[in-house]
Amino acid sequence: MEPATKIGVLGAGTMGAGIVQLAVQSGYEVVACDASVEALERAQVYVHEGLSRFAARGAFSEDEAAAHYDRAHWTTNTEELHDAEAVIEAIVEKVGPKKEALAALDALLPPEALIFTNTSSISITDLAGATNRPERVCGTHFFTPPPVREAVEIPRGKLTSDETVEAARSLVRSFGKLPVVVSGDVPGFVANRFLVPMLLEACRLLEAGAAPKKDIDLLVKKGLGFPIGPFELGDFIGLDVALDVTSQIHEATGNPYYAPPKLLQDLVRSGKLGQKTGQGFYEYS
Ligand SMILES: NC(=O)c1ccc[n+]([C@@H]2O[C@H](COP(=O)([O-])OP(=O)(O)OC[C@H]3O[C@@H](n4cnc5c(N)ncnc54)[C@H](O)[C@@H]3O)[C@@H](O)[C@H]2O)c1
Repeated sequence: MEPATKIGVLGAGTMGAGIVQLAVQSGYEVVACDASVEALERAQVYVHEGLSRFAARGAFSEDEAAAHYDRAHWTTNTEELHDAEAVIEAIVEKVGPKKEALAALDALLPPEALIFTNTSSISITDLAGATNRPERVCGTHFFTPPPVREAVEIPRGKLTSDETVEAARSLVRSFGKLPVVVSGDVPGFVANRFLVPMLLEACRLLEAGAAPKKDIDLLVKKGLGFPIGPFELGDFIGLDVALDVTSQIHEATGNPYYAPPKLLQDLVRSGKLGQKTGQGFYEYS
């Protein structure tokens, strides 16, 4: 794909906002669509501040940052995605809403348009089945925060065509990122088959009274050399997203190992979703 292309981003939450920033700073015209006005407002602030930070670090000038920002068009009206050549879906990690969204995009977009999904764990084959163009549906799994992380996982579905995988690769490369294709249709793809067990083990160790959460994070960081501890990472990702991803892998594999821990379920039920709500495993002021 070329930066002259107009692309759509459906869902402008934590990930969608980061993907919009990446796309505009890579030269794309972007239609950013979210059902929530508040989410769009937060995303606008995120993209504006993100571009300013990149400009301050010398990635581009302040004038270029302003021009990048102006390439984004913000809307709550899904129909404004109608002439996008590709749409990246980044709504909530639940099968029903994602299938509904993909079916609606399929009905709206030109037949040659590509539909990419930022799902972290749901089968691309399954999601693509909600459309009449399964060969033009592919995963583009960005990591958080999208403007910073270097690689993007590209899970393909059983019916995704080689041309679509190539287009996903070229889109990711045009964002300055490294595409890594996952061909087997495995629940959780590759990245979350590492991340989820880390979070599960951390919760189970805490529930078993092995050590306080700060010490578990400390050992993982200072002992194992990971850049971030499991509880800090969970709070950063969003505990609702972490719970949804864990539940999807649990359901898809049927493996009791992936049963979401009560601690994680309780935090989400009480609205403690991590950094985005000011409280998760830790408190944020
Ligand atoms: N948070 C992470 O670290 C992370 C990392 C990689 C991938 N993902 C994946 O990215 C996707 C989005 O995650 P997120 O963390 O950005 O979630 P989020 O809850 O921050 O954002 C989701 C956004 O989608 C909007 N939305 C929901 N349904 C919609 C619809 N039908 N139409 C338009 N907008 C709709 C919501 O208003 C919200 O703003 C999920 O599939 C998630 O698994 C998340």
